[in-house]
Amino acid sequence: MTTQATETGPVIRFTDVCKRFGEKVVLDGFSMELSRGKTLSIMGPSGVGKSVTLKHAIGLLTADSGSVEVFGRDISEATSAELAEMRKRMGYVFQEGALINWLSVGENVALPLRENTDLGEDEIRTLVEERLRLVHIPDAWDLMPSEISGGMKKRVGIARALITDPELILYDEPNAGLDPEIARSINALIRELQEGLGVSSLVVEHRIDCIKTVSDEVLFLDGGKALVQADPEEFFHSNHPRLARFFGKESA
Ligand SMILES: Nc1ncnc2c1ncn2[C@@H]1O[C@H](COP(=O)(O)OP(=O)(O)O)[C@@H](O)[C@H]1O
Ligand SMILES: [Mg+2]
Repeated sequence: MTTQATETGPVIRFTDVCKRFGEKVVLDGFSMELSRGKTLSIMGPSGVGKSVTLKHAIGLLTADSGSVEVFGRDISEATSAELAEMRKRMGYVFQEGALINWLSVGENVALPLRENTDLGEDEIRTLVEERLRLVHIPDAWDLMPSEISGGMKKRVGIARALITDPELILYDEPNAGLDPEIARSINALIRELQEGLGVSSLVVEHRIDCIKTVSDEVLFLDGGKALVQADPEEFFHSNHPRLARFFGKESA
């Protein structure tokens, strides 16, 4: 069913995307590309449209104008069945973890399989156990979300996003609210997934140390536009006046 074999070019491409909510213009001619197998981080001030951008990539929001292509397919032209197929190839790690409180860790991770596949109980158990091992929490199945730390919740969120073997993972502030040590281990995990499984990743992040660890490229979003998209070295040495102002003196 997938068109994988014939797909070349970027995994995600936004071309001149505009999006407003009522009077509020959020995206205003936003363009960007995520290359296959790479990790692109999006930075920008709070409320600027970073989460809105991710939601366009997964088809939860649609552009007013311009185009959003994922896996080489214009998302606005996809039927709901096609969109469902595309989403099986993507994982989304929500900012708040978005775990279901009355389900155990294992059942949270199993949920996409129960909802979207006809797999039997044994197959589901094997896949969930594999993903829990992958995010380094092999024994967490029976724990409840209320019993685990913030860092562990993020890992569960990542395990759930990985359960359908996605080629593309979208992370919305995977390190928000985590202490630096745990943030480093989450970053290492993001990197491991990219290098080990070849997944492409789009990461909304604001911590510079995190961005430097995980990114092949960094994009700065402000005023509805991608002001700069460059590799980290170039990005953090950019003399773009908006970036210099955003970073102050210490890192621009
Ligand atoms: N579904 C929505 N309806 C109305 N306004 C929204 C919606 N989603 C986001 N917004 C607005 O769009 C702007 C960008 O939001 P968001 O992408 O969440 O910012 P951030 O860059 O912090 O992730 C904000 O002003 C937010 O209030
Ligand atoms: Mg956000």
